[in-house]
Amino acid sequence: MKIYKTKDYDAMSLKAATILASQITLKPDSVLGLATGSSPVGMYKKLVEWYQTGNLDFSQIMSVNLDEYRGLSPDNEQSYRYFMNTHLFDHVNIRKECTHVPDGLTENPDQACEDYEALIESLGGVDIQVLGMGHNGHIGFNEPCSEFAKITHCVDLAPSTIEANKRFFESEADVPRQAYSMGIGTIMKAKKILLIVSGADKAETLYRALTGPVTPEVPASILQFHKEVYVVADEAAMSCFK
Ligand code: GLP
Repeated sequence: MKIYKTKDYDAMSLKAATILASQITLKPDSVLGLATGSSPVGMYKKLVEWYQTGNLDFSQIMSVNLDEYRGLSPDNEQSYRYFMNTHLFDHVNIRKECTHVPDGLTENPDQACEDYEALIESLGGVDIQVLGMGHNGHIGFNEPCSEFAKITHCVDLAPSTIEANKRFFESEADVPRQAYSMGIGTIMKAKKILLIVSGADKAETLYRALTGPVTPEVPASILQFHKEVYVVADEAAMSCFK
């Protein structure tokens, strides 16, 4: 595991964007595993800038996203498909048909989850998986629980996640109670992982995740077992590390 400590959110975004841009440059037909949330927004902004200045080419890139709220359509402003379109896909030359986000409206969840796994396999697996981390240590929407979920599945969101994510909705009642998420097993199959964390409110959880016991009660702790993880975290998020 390689940990990069940066001064603040902007420096974190720049460093994370550099890692992703290197991947795209070295392997132009990479499969990127992408994440939503406030953590990667600055990184996507940088990637868009570099595309616009002619320094990055997404024409052969494929992508799979970590998760999606159950019940939200792609044109719902709170859906993760909408987030990806507005923060990245609409601004670069990625082929939209090569971007994949779990279908929040599927009528056959079990089949859709299996199909998502098969899709990732058919693309040759994820070259680099971007992750944010929830305050409770969740990655994707893998909430703290008694055992690690292996594959893409439907999750009941933890009350703390509903609370944390209500800022994006008109009211807490509007936050979906369920989501589809890659499993921990899906995430761990990625060849490389890029974890981005910012803010003092995640410092203790980040410390537990990277130095404490590996347990499904802190889902991000599983990353200690992955062979190629890059953690980019700002000083505030790293404040429990001496
Ligand atoms: C959300 C997403 C995660 C994200 C996390 C942290 O619930 N499902 O993929 O990493 O919470 O979000 P943020 O970066 O906004 O703190």
